[in-house]
Amino acid sequence: MIDPSKATPKELISEAAIQARVSELAGQISRDYAGRELLVVGILKGSWVFLADLVRRLTVPAVIDFMTVSSYGASTKTSGVVKIVLDLKCPLEGRDVLVVEDILDTGLTLKYIIDGLKLRKPRSLKIATLMDKPERRRVDIKADYIGFAVPDKFVVGYGADFGERFRHLPYIGYIEEE
Ligand code: IMP
Ligand code: MG
Repeated sequence: MIDPSKATPKELISEAAIQARVSELAGQISRDYAGRELLVVGILKGSWVFLADLVRRLTVPAVIDFMTVSSYGASTKTSGVVKIVLDLKCPLEGRDVLVVEDILDTGLTLKYIIDGLKLRKPRSLKIATLMDKPERRRVDIKADYIGFAVPDKFVVGYGADFGERFRHLPYIGYIEEE
C-alpha cells in the first residue's frame, strides 16, 4: 500500500448518492422504531460523519453514545485483535440499541463489539453500516441496515480513513493499489 500522504482517492460513490441513501436509511429506521426511543451507538472514529447525517434525519427520539475500539492501528490489514479504548456512558439494559459502523469488512471488529454489548441486556440490538464488503467476511455477522455494498477495495471518505487521512471527504473514494 502506498504512503497515505501521497494517495489520491478516486471517487466511488458521490456525495449526492450518499445523501440520498442516508435519507432512505433514516426513513426506514424511523419506521421500524416508530413509538420507541433509540440508543444510537457510534463506533469511533469511522462512523461519526455517517452517524451525524443519519441521526439528524430520524423522526424517532434518539440518544447518542460512542465507543472507540482499535483493531487496525496504522495498518490496512485486520489483526483480529479488538480492544475497547473508550466505553459507552449509557447503560444498555432494556434499550433499543442501533450500532452504527462505517465499514463491515471481515466482521471481526463488529462481532466482538456485538457479543460484548449483548451481555448488557439491551431490549433489541441492530447494526447499521454505511458500507459492507460481503466477500471479505470471516465471521458470521450481518448488518440490518446497509448503505452500500462495496467491492473489495480500500475505501476512504465520509468518515473512513487511510492512515487518519480523508475522513472529511464528502464522497467515498478508493485508493488504488500500486
Ligand atoms: P473488520 O473487523 O475487518 O470488519 O474491520 C472493520 C473496520 O476496519 C472498519 O470499521 C473500518 O474502520 C476498517 N476498515 C475496513 N475496511 C476499510 C477500508 O476499505 N477503508 C478504511 N477502513 C477500513
Ligand atoms: Mg471503524
